[in-house]
Amino acid sequence: MFAQTQIGTLLHEEHLQTIRSLQRLEDFLANQSPKRPPDLSKPEVRKILGDVLGDLAKEVDRHFTFEEDNLFTILTEQGEMGIVMMLSEEHGVIRPLALELAEEAEAALGGDGFTADGWPEFHERARELCEREVFHIQKEEMGLLAAISALVDGETDSRLASEYRLLAAGA
Ligand SMILES: [Fe+2]
Ligand SMILES: [Fe+2]
Repeated sequence: MFAQTQIGTLLHEEHLQTIRSLQRLEDFLANQSPKRPPDLSKPEVRKILGDVLGDLAKEVDRHFTFEEDNLFTILTEQGEMGIVMMLSEEHGVIRPLALELAEEAEAALGGDGFTADGWPEFHERARELCEREVFHIQKEEMGLLAAISALVDGETDSRLASEYRLLAAGA
């Protein structure tokens, strides 16, 4: 096990929180037929598709942007292009997917719900989001956090941790 950095610990905690939200979304999807749109008058359905998915998309966007702007740049400078390229590619798929799904869910909740054709597609893409993001987090837990602890010095670590705390508090 590597010595943990402050910023690594913060990202790890947020990974766990994201996994919990993804789990709630996954459980909901598993209980919900892909063939029949959900009953949007149920508060628990509105909660998952509104708050949980909406917060998840915002969290993913903020978390990814921070990693890209602050950590991937440090890793690239130190020659770690391989891991940066792989994780950046995944960000490029997961972020738009999360934001689109949150937007579509919001539109459905605020309007006429999901159409008979729209729901199966939404269901499929939401499952895809869960799968991709869980896998992405697992990779970061194995590779990124170790790379951070090896390559980020103490001063940079403290600066990044306080920037990240501010960012997370404002979200
Ligand atoms: Fe990431
Ligand atoms: Fe991450």
